[in-house]
Amino acid sequence: MTRELIYSGKAKDIFATEDENVIIAQYKDQATAFNGVKKEQIAGKGQLNNQISSLIFEKLNAAGIATHFIEKISETEQLNKKVTIIPLEVVLRNYTAGSFSKRFGVEEGIKLDDPIVEFYYKNDDLDDPFINDEHVKFLGAANDEDISYIKAETRRINDLLSDWFQQIGLKLIDFKLEFGFDKDGKIILADEFSPDNCRLWDAQGHHMDKDVFRRGLGELTDVYKVVLERLKGIE
Ligand code: TMP
Repeated sequence: MTRELIYSGKAKDIFATEDENVIIAQYKDQATAFNGVKKEQIAGKGQLNNQISSLIFEKLNAAGIATHFIEKISETEQLNKKVTIIPLEVVLRNYTAGSFSKRFGVEEGIKLDDPIVEFYYKNDDLDDPFINDEHVKFLGAANDEDISYIKAETRRINDLLSDWFQQIGLKLIDFKLEFGFDKDGKIILADEFSPDNCRLWDAQGHHMDKDVFRRGLGELTDVYKVVLERLKGIE
């Protein structure tokens, strides 16, 4: 069967289906960092992220979060509702790390009194700049009501995820979400949730996420496998 490639991203290819409101997301064996400057083919990464993201989105759907996830259809593919992606990277931070630590000159791993939500403008040519709510409106990416909904939903998702990861001995340091408008104009959670777009530290402070690749700390698939196996244990 030949199918129409709608979009090719760094971690996924998106294909059309016979249903105009449904797409196939195919997860790639590719890891990138620093806006694609570091890039490697890593056998097995696609199926690990497809499995991890499917498992988490199933749980989010079951918990009443509106998401694009329909079902996993193969080792590397899932069916998703088609959305118009809102060009924002919505980051929530429970602990200091990464660009936050760099920006404010603070060490990594300090618990924040209240989780902080940040917006980045999803634009590779501009290197995904850090922006505020007024910039979001200037860009026409979302209005006041949408912004409030996205922030509240991100905090609700954080409560669920932090609890699930805590149950398997992992601290959810921070993560990035993307939202989109579905066919009815409703905002739903889209993209993926995997160790590619979050930070997870184990009880010993080991990085169990893409920082292993970004910082050259070890084999990415070794740690992603551990995350998947532990997640399977919290059915
Ligand atoms: P940061 O500390 O580099 O800003 O990253 C914050 C979170 O967002 C972290 O969990 C990794 C994730 N992230 C992405 O998913 N995509 C990106 O392009 C970047 C820079 C970060």
